[in-house]
Amino acid sequence: MENIKRKILKLKDELNRHNYRYYILNDPIISDFKYDEMLRELEALENKYPKFKTLDSPTQRVGAPILKFFKPLEHRTPMLSLSNAKDQNEIVDFYHRILKLLKLNNVEFVGETKLDGIGVELIYENGIFTAGATRGDGYIGENITQNLRTIRQIPLKLLGDNIPEILEVRGEVIISNENFQELNRNRENKNEPLFANPRNAAAGSLRQLDPKITEKRPLEIYIYAFGEITDNNFETHWDFLKQLKKWGFPTNPYNKILSDEKEMIKYFNKMENDRNTLPYDIDGIVLKVNSLDHQNKLGTRTRNPRWAIAGKFKPKQEITQIISIDEQVGRTGIITPVANLKPVKISGATISRVTLHNQDEIDRKDIRINDFVIVERAGDVIPKVIKVIKKKRTNNTKTYKLPKKCPVCNSPAIKIENGALLKCSNISCPAQLKKSIEHFVSKKAMDIAGAEATMNLLVEAKLISNVAELYDLKEEDLVELERFGKKSAQNLIKSVDKSKNTSLQKLIYALGIPNVGEYTSKLLAKKYGNFKSLLNAKQDELVEIEDIGPIVAESILTFVKEEKNIKVINSLFQHEINPTYDNSKNELQKLKNKTFVLTGTLENYTRDKAKSLIENAGGKATNTVSKKTDYLIAGSNSGTKLKKAKKLNIKILNESEFKNLFSE
Ligand code: IVH
Repeated sequence: MENIKRKILKLKDELNRHNYRYYILNDPIISDFKYDEMLRELEALENKYPKFKTLDSPTQRVGAPILKFFKPLEHRTPMLSLSNAKDQNEIVDFYHRILKLLKLNNVEFVGETKLDGIGVELIYENGIFTAGATRGDGYIGENITQNLRTIRQIPLKLLGDNIPEILEVRGEVIISNENFQELNRNRENKNEPLFANPRNAAAGSLRQLDPKITEKRPLEIYIYAFGEITDNNFETHWDFLKQLKKWGFPTNPYNKILSDEKEMIKYFNKMENDRNTLPYDIDGIVLKVNSLDHQNKLGTRTRNPRWAIAGKFKPKQEITQIISIDEQVGRTGIITPVANLKPVKISGATISRVTLHNQDEIDRKDIRINDFVIVERAGDVIPKVIKVIKKKRTNNTKTYKLPKKCPVCNSPAIKIENGALLKCSNISCPAQLKKSIEHFVSKKAMDIAGAEATMNLLVEAKLISNVAELYDLKEEDLVELERFGKKSAQNLIKSVDKSKNTSLQKLIYALGIPNVGEYTSKLLAKKYGNFKSLLNAKQDELVEIEDIGPIVAESILTFVKEEKNIKVINSLFQHEINPTYDNSKNELQKLKNKTFVLTGTLENYTRDKAKSLIENAGGKATNTVSKKTDYLIAGSNSGTKLKKAKKLNIKILNESEFKNLFSE
């Protein structure tokens, strides 16, 4: 038995080292064939002697079960973000700010690339990778351990020595431009929707509930920061980066020590100049004070450390040609001109359509069909036309005017907002109808499962002409339609029926009142308690609500006075869709005015679910433990919050005690 254990240990160790040579050093010393052979040997042994199967085994990168949702994972130390410098001057300002704060004449920095991917945290306990999470809101992320395991560059077991008891490292998961192109080519072949850019592809891949899908995605990672480290005695950030390599982590090859202001600027300019030659997207550089002692002295603001800054590059621009201009009709009937471009690639994404906003914008920039234009795209921001290149204009350009009629239903278009916008005058316009029904059934609204994709079909077949008619749908109508079987018809009707039990705030949101999003819907639900009262809302009442201004108030009043809308709402009432916001019940609720903090991982609740249970019972869920906290709900792996709560003598409940609060 000892022999077998030793054999397994040796195989694991060797495989982990070969993995490192292959994925980190790009310098394998055995063939892929040999590697696979060893892996299969290990697998066979582990299957025969499962008690020797451990978390750090290279066989454990795949095969984890499909999850229902990601559990929350609280960061022991918050994952901060960086403040920005938008040009050289702001970098110089930053440098002088640091000198002044430290009262020094010279400070050393480390320059790094600002990778445009997804920030994650990896946790190692005694050298073994035990958990990993997304950044989330900086305090609580999602536990995506099993997806991270599939990334071959992530060591499952640290190499070398000096292994801390707890080591938390942070880095960026990315997809290279080349791999991104290939991923999208494959998706196109399979008729799957394309990813907009490498960053979205990386994010989507990390958020798969089935790790088998993540495993097939070409994810890479670079590590650049730490969270908690037991007995951290690094003196500089550079020492930490060096140690990362020894432990087997990938660090970015462009990391560089910068000894003064001049070198910082040089690095910024060089990286901006070279960004197109890099295999992945970067949107700037990051400058970090090298000495950890100095970092500590400088400290952090609420969201950003004082000792680091992101030097942002100018957004990428490309020149292309406008082939044609057409119009889009939105949910509220606004008609927007959209330019069709000769497709052009800007930082990984292919841009072929760009909104021109309105006629004023087109006239001001003198944009014509067939013009050559500069198009800009900054990160996730919607691309825009910066200007026309007049020098390239030829005789075949044509001016464009928005039509006087709706391009979808041919009804007259009317000018609104002092003529700035154009709107279709027909509230039953099919374009508006389709979009408003899609919004109505969407997850954050009435949450009618699987309905979003089929709404077009129902509108085109004239089965529904407003959202209330969804509740009149019959199985026999649906089965007539192409693509609908008995089963899918029944399912749709079931979920339509289920949606009747929605909350007041979701119903308000679902109706798509212009300028009323989820948050405002919640405020309105609280204030009016039911939809009938909201129908009688008055201007002065509305503006009294904090966060509701005159424009939103006007928008609500216009909506609830519109004859057609009242009809639809009445018809919803007739279908017994009339939820109330139960203020009176809150009075009786035992959690009223109680403040809760959640920490650690709960087995049976997501963080959001737990929060909404508390809030529905009249309580408040906050993020920080203080004297005002009434209860701390502690799941497994609770950290500093638990300590603090104990110190402050705050009542601590475990998961089952928490559950009992709601069971009566
Ligand atoms: S350091 C306290 N270094 O940028 C410092 N971040 O706005 C926190 N990022 O959330 C991060 N490259 O996802 C750091 N070389 C780098 C980075 C980097 C990209 C991302 C990271 C972070 C965001 C900060």
